[in-house]
Amino acid sequence: MKISFGFCLRIMFCSVFLLASLGQAANAQRKSIAPIDKGNPLPELVSGYYFANPDSRNLQDDDFENPGFLWMDVGEALWNKKEGDAGKACASCHQKAKDTMESAATSYPKYYPKTKKLINLEQRINICRKDNMKAKPFKWETNNLLALTIYVRNSSRGKPVNVSIPEEAKGFFNKGKDFFYLRQGQLNISCAHCHEGHYGNKIRADLLSQGHINGFPTYRLGWQRVGSAQRRFKACNRLLRAQPYAYGSDTYNNLELYLSWRGNGLPVETPSVRR
Ligand code: HEC
Ligand code: HEC
Repeated sequence: MKISFGFCLRIMFCSVFLLASLGQAANAQRKSIAPIDKGNPLPELVSGYYFANPDSRNLQDDDFENPGFLWMDVGEALWNKKEGDAGKACASCHQKAKDTMESAATSYPKYYPKTKKLINLEQRINICRKDNMKAKPFKWETNNLLALTIYVRNSSRGKPVNVSIPEEAKGFFNKGKDFFYLRQGQLNISCAHCHEGHYGNKIRADLLSQGHINGFPTYRLGWQRVGSAQRRFKACNRLLRAQPYAYGSDTYNNLELYLSWRGNGLPVETPSVRR
């Protein structure tokens, strides 16, 4: 067969086009949005999803493969289970999470007037168990507390994170911000050093993300289970060779508020999957 010049040109064109579209696909992978709040130091907001490795992303994309959904099922069962002396379930007062929990899923941590401090979603759930169900609060980082938190957050998957900073929360917000920029540990660097100054760069096997928490609680393959944002704070504190703080400590609640605010506008992705 004689191959015409035109045919060769077509092939050349096609392969150039194919290469160009492959290149585009690689670029299109990292979606960013403009920060909503004035004063957000990030030039663009990118979910940690786009820095995760392809295996983790594939798991996250498929609800049947995503191991975090094992906790979703537990969360749904707990939501409907009557417990405690009041004989109530979450569903007795809040009906369907999808209809009633949107603001809770996107707006915590919040200022809690009773204690004049911040509470995060885990603490809000435990307040309901104690005060409204007369049931025992769940311990930090237990399967049950993580499962309910995942269930509540997932009810608003895809909706934008939307924490606000009212007057009473400003002091906590500023402390969270100071902590994020504080040089600490033997490495004497701050959270911002990696997650603001060097996001997109490779550090060992990881691509550094912007350190957002829109996908938490997350399933980490390294943990072989789900973990809260505050568990990740502890892990990064240890990475700096700095002393981690306690779950629910003022320091970590302030930090959680500040980090949620930095990601205002990013979609809730709970339960995300990470290496
Ligand atoms: C007896 C009724 C009752 C039960 C049972 C109950 N709650 Fe609540 N819950 C409330 C009330 C009332 C509020 C609103 C308090 C407020 O506005 O400050 C609330 C608030 C919340 C919020 C915060 C909502 C927001 O928008 O800030 C969350 C989250 C929540 N409940 C989760 C749960 C979960 C999870 C359970 C089950 C473990 C549960 N609740 C059980 C009555 C209940
Ligand atoms: C030496 C670099 C480094 C510093 C400093 C650092 N981290 Fe990280 N952090 C990482 C790495 C690596 C990961 C995993 C990859 C990624 O998501 O960036 C990570 C992940 C995270 C994540 C999860 C992001 C996601 O989408 O899953 C959060 C949240 C986070 N860090 C918060 C912090 C906080 C808070 C501090 C300060 C106490 C801090 N980091 C300091 C390296 C660092």
